[in-house]
Amino acid sequence: MALLKLKPFLKINSPILTKALTRNLEATSIEQSAPQKFTLDDKVAVVTGGASGIGFAIAKEFLKNGLLAVNILDIDKRKLLTSTRTLKQEFGEDRVISSEVDVADAEQMDNILRNTSVDFEGIDIIVNNAGVLDDTNWENQLDTNIRGSVIGTLLGMQYMAKTSSGEGGIIVNIGSSMSITPACGFPIHTLTQFGIAGFTRALGSSKLYERTGVKIFGFCPGLTDTNALKQLEEKAINHNFVGEFEEEMKDVNLQDPVNVAKGLVEVLGDAQPGSIWIVENNKSPFELEFPKIIERKKIEREETQQSATDTTQAKAQ
Ligand SMILES: NC(=O)c1ccc[n+]([C@@H]2O[C@H](COP(=O)([O-])OP(=O)(O)OC[C@H]3O[C@@H](n4cnc5c(N)ncnc54)[C@H](O)[C@@H]3O)[C@@H](O)[C@H]2O)c1
Repeated sequence: MALLKLKPFLKINSPILTKALTRNLEATSIEQSAPQKFTLDDKVAVVTGGASGIGFAIAKEFLKNGLLAVNILDIDKRKLLTSTRTLKQEFGEDRVISSEVDVADAEQMDNILRNTSVDFEGIDIIVNNAGVLDDTNWENQLDTNIRGSVIGTLLGMQYMAKTSSGEGGIIVNIGSSMSITPACGFPIHTLTQFGIAGFTRALGSSKLYERTGVKIFGFCPGLTDTNALKQLEEKAINHNFVGEFEEEMKDVNLQDPVNVAKGLVEVLGDAQPGSIWIVENNKSPFELEFPKIIERKKIEREETQQSATDTTQAKAQ
């Protein structure tokens, strides 16, 4: 069978994703059970981009905290082999599996998630972490960061939602501080990160959570010491951009990926559906507050009134 090709963003023309979307968005109710204290014990997780950096640190931290098993997904076969070996040595052969995959390929992702779900009798957590920072190879960046997150989220709903084949779960979409604060040095990367945050906030609706039992939230690291930050000067579309980016980031401390992973474990149970968290400077994560529409309008109105007053005063002089 030919590989499915999704048209980016505007239409979902993949039968796999259409099924995932319609079943879960149209369902009207599910039976709710009493909330219990969250623990990673006996849970099964899938971490994309898990062969290195932040994804690897998350897989390791989950296992340290009692996770039953993790499937780490990555496009880089060599790194995947090394990371899988390292995790198996530390946590046991049975608790770690890995799959070579491109997260932007819906069919490959569907096969992997279906097999994981069958082998472990369900999936509890999916971390859509795979991502690249490279504005010069911007189409691959859009595919990996945006398409990958959309595919991982919609298929995650398909396999975890109580309204389809699952028992509820958690989807974490990894964004970045550029999900909130644009970086003039990397405008296309900023676009992907804003997209991840917007998508996560929209699908993280508590109404959807009540129906499906799948909690979706965003976790956004600041600058973190991984391969993604290497050779930055070759990854900007204008040579001035790197200097400007470095200027913007000069007060930020590069954090250890382990800090991101520990922060995620800290908030995994309590994070609300649709919430967006920042973790930076080697500190604990904090949740972002967004202005409500009414407050935004108020700011706009005050600004309009102020500019009308300024114009009147200027005319009077
Ligand atoms: N490092 C930072 O400063 C930083 C800051 C904020 C957010 N992030 C985000 O954290 C996530 C992880 O990045 P990282 O810093 O650990 O970088 P990294 O390069 O160490 O890890 C990214 C992993 O994703 C894999 N990958 C890339 N494209 C893929 C694809 N199409 N399919 C499957 N796997 C793929 C890579 O092989 C790699 O193992 C990314 O989403 C990134 O945007 C990183």
